[in-house]
Amino acid sequence: MAITINDLQAAKREGRRFVMLTAYDYPTARLLAEAEVPVILVGDSLGDNVLGHANTLPVTMEDSLHHARAVARGAPDLLLVGDMPFGTYHRSAEDAIANAVAFLKAGMHAVKLEGGGWVVDTVARIVERGIPVMGHLGLTPQSVNAFGGMRVQARTDAAKERLLADAQALERAGAFAVVLEGIPRDLARTVSQAIGIPTIGIGAGPDCDAQVLIIYDLIGVSSHTRGSVPKFVRAYTDVGDRIVEAARSFACDVREGRFPDDAHSYH
Ligand code: KIV
Repeated sequence: MAITINDLQAAKREGRRFVMLTAYDYPTARLLAEAEVPVILVGDSLGDNVLGHANTLPVTMEDSLHHARAVARGAPDLLLVGDMPFGTYHRSAEDAIANAVAFLKAGMHAVKLEGGGWVVDTVARIVERGIPVMGHLGLTPQSVNAFGGMRVQARTDAAKERLLADAQALERAGAFAVVLEGIPRDLARTVSQAIGIPTIGIGAGPDCDAQVLIIYDLIGVSSHTRGSVPKFVRAYTDVGDRIVEAARSFACDVREGRFPDDAHSYH
């Protein structure tokens, strides 16, 4: 049975934690469906994790829709969230609505926008059009330049109050969930207790209602996991090492005449 936003809200009411993972392609979406992961985010982390950009800023609607369609073909029954790229909801609410509609036409069931403040109004306008919206507060990667780097956010009392107020405003605007990224654990707990919609943490400690990770961090493939690993990441396997080993073994077998052998030949 298809997962809906109502299922996530019921999970919060009943105190059941859940997970969200990113995916950017058809086979990964199928595997996550097999693993019964309820929510897939086609994140704009596509930029640094798949397309080789330094950060998420260069990602376009065209890039995101291409990957969203592949994910939708692989896991149509999961709750699929399209991450609105930088610049696609900044100019006007009309622009944001048009881009959110494009995500739903590509097979997504909801969209995610980064930020509080002025973004809250845009969230309300998209929700008003019948499109579910996930919020995203804290270390929002599209603001990397404004933050002066990827730094934990909301460390001062004033910033904590602002983030809590933004979370409450997003709930009032109709957001069905909110990602809390890169904030102190105590603030994530306070926000999770203060709002009625699920909080989905990443680098925000264990007290959120749900957790999200980037799939390539989880499986040990991303540039993160093969370089310096952020404190919040746990790689559950090392697919990156397995790929390197497999490619080396293949090349070695070909060089030394062990592959293909007669068993892998047609007669
Ligand atoms: O783009 C992304 O993958 C995200 C998650 C890290 C929440 O926004």
